[in-house]
Amino acid sequence: MRRVMVSVVVVMLASFGVASAAPAGKVTILCSPNPPWCDAVKAEFPKATGIALEFLRLSSGEALARLRAERQNPSFDVWFGGTGDPHVVANEDGLTEIYRPRAWDDLRPELREAVAGKYIPLYAGILGWAINERLLKEKGLPVPRTWLELADPKYKGLIAHPNPNTSGTGYTLIATLVQIYGEQEAFELLKRIHRNIAEYTRSGPAPALLAGRGEVAIGITFVHDALDHVLKGFPIVYGAPRDGTGYEIGGLSLIKATPNRVNAIAFIEWALTPAAQVLNAERGESYQIPSNTKTPVPRIIPRFQDFKVIKYDFLKYGRAAVRDGLVQKWTREISTLPK
Ligand code: F6P
Repeated sequence: MRRVMVSVVVVMLASFGVASAAPAGKVTILCSPNPPWCDAVKAEFPKATGIALEFLRLSSGEALARLRAERQNPSFDVWFGGTGDPHVVANEDGLTEIYRPRAWDDLRPELREAVAGKYIPLYAGILGWAINERLLKEKGLPVPRTWLELADPKYKGLIAHPNPNTSGTGYTLIATLVQIYGEQEAFELLKRIHRNIAEYTRSGPAPALLAGRGEVAIGITFVHDALDHVLKGFPIVYGAPRDGTGYEIGGLSLIKATPNRVNAIAFIEWALTPAAQVLNAERGESYQIPSNTKTPVPRIIPRFQDFKVIKYDFLKYGRAAVRDGLVQKWTREISTLPK
């Protein structure tokens, strides 16, 4: 009698789809956005597919270094998020594979064209800053309007800037200044800004937190990371320089030679669905523009039309020689200078 009951329960569970939700292996991702978004992905992907998910959160530059170090024996199946230039580098280095997802035609065409299929666009975000107006006011200082003004000695000790070795945001800043002013002038400007830097942070969102806490007055960061701290109640405003600014096309890449390809592809397909893409704003404390045109975009998300955004050349500044060259030059010529 007991055996019959058990069989009936199993049949019922199967007919409700419960039996098919048993985990079918797992997927391991390198996750470069804010940790709460990575946590939401870890919670929701298994519910949608029955596949368990593990992640390690690393900033974009650190993630690229990790993939390079593990070239012979990759421990990740997918790289989820992070600025686009290092995804292009990873592709050029043969660390990732070009994969065309089912949702390809639904992704924003301007993002697809800008990265020319080197990786899959996951989101977009605009580079700018988080400003603690109260602190500037206390010091009798104006709100800066341009990158050039950050070099003014009156801002000494009041700026935080992500380190381009570890942070994709930090690299986006350098590549942006090079594209606006040319390499020589940009490095002269970075030298002068260096004298005003209180701290080079490891991650891109960290300067927004430092500005929020009043440890600096100006945190160079993506405007969506500044918005995150505004929404958390920190006394800051966000904006972007009037002399133009760069942006990111956050990446999604399939790691080459992963033995777990089937689950890796299942993850990529899921990550591009509107149901997955709304997680950033709803649960992930992240406010980038989602790449899928079918994903609703909350009104609070900063839009391109509100800023003077340059035509950022992802293919050039994602070339390994260009990216590594600029990061090494910054490390050699700027980071070692006295303040
Ligand atoms: O999740 C926030 C975010 O700004 C992403 O939009 C971006 O891709 C990533 O962090 C960059 O972080 P980092 O500068 O630390 O590499």
